[in-house]
Amino acid sequence: MSTPEDVRRKDLTMIHGYPMVYAFALNWERIEEFQSKPDDLVITTYPKSGTTWLSEIVDMVLNDGNVEKCKRDVITSKVPMLELSVPGQSISGVELLKTTPSPRIIKTHLPIDLLPKSFWENNCKMIYMARNAKDVSVSYYHFDLMNNLHPLPGTWKEYLQKFLAGNVPYGSWFNHVKTWWEKKKGYPLLFLYYEDMKQNPKEEIKKIASFLGKTLDEEILDRIIHHTSFEMMKDNPLVNYTHLSTAVMDHSKSPFMRKGVVGDWKNYFTVAQNEEFDAIFKKEMSDTSLKFCTDI
Ligand code: A3P
Repeated sequence: MSTPEDVRRKDLTMIHGYPMVYAFALNWERIEEFQSKPDDLVITTYPKSGTTWLSEIVDMVLNDGNVEKCKRDVITSKVPMLELSVPGQSISGVELLKTTPSPRIIKTHLPIDLLPKSFWENNCKMIYMARNAKDVSVSYYHFDLMNNLHPLPGTWKEYLQKFLAGNVPYGSWFNHVKTWWEKKKGYPLLFLYYEDMKQNPKEEIKKIASFLGKTLDEEILDRIIHHTSFEMMKDNPLVNYTHLSTAVMDHSKSPFMRKGVVGDWKNYFTVAQNEEFDAIFKKEMSDTSLKFCTDI
């Protein structure tokens, strides 16, 4: 029987060519064999792209903006993470999903190649949220400082090189966003941007409601915007991840709800790092119509 200590700060494990969190990679068959249900809704993102924010918004939309209903449980139970597994702590997304009432909202960071086939077979609806790579890299660096299931990030300088090389959990940001973007052609997938949600939450929430077959009035939309603002979520123990054991996340190293802004990268990137980043970005993104904004 393993314990959380056995999986603490372990090196990543390769799964079909993708670097994966060591604890999650154990018993990978459980992911490959996972059986979806046709009414499952999948929230899919590259890590640190606003997954928790999107999850709470979707739950609010599905509950017609009823705050009390949305307080029924912690976010990790309302929206289980498919691949999550912490040996010795009885934490397992697949186990939790066995008892989650339908329609289920399922969170994942898996690249397309690793998503269980069953989701495609059932044509499950999916919402993808993308965030600009510069802010993702800064957010991910801080997350690796506080998440004991991930390897330590090293210095910011070292971490940025790992990020650009895709040597971080779930692999390359470039591959992730590009392949999910392509997938939306001919598939029921709503593709959203973190920056748009920051700039005009009402429009983005309306898109989500429409995708889920709902029409929400102005009052409900305003309530959802208020309840899911960064300030509200930062202080909400049901969504700010303070309910997890410090063996998993140590908020004294960096809080999960850190800044929640667009453009924080400017506080970390040197001029030289920014130039290198832009050059790699240009090359990697030359074959896609995807566009990102890094400042609002
Ligand atoms: P920062 O580290 O830049 O602050 P994920 O949920 O995918 O792990 O993403 C976490 C990032 O989303 C963190 O970014 C976090 O602060 C931000 N975030 C969480 N809730 C948010 C909200 N309500 N509004 C804006 N950003 C939010």
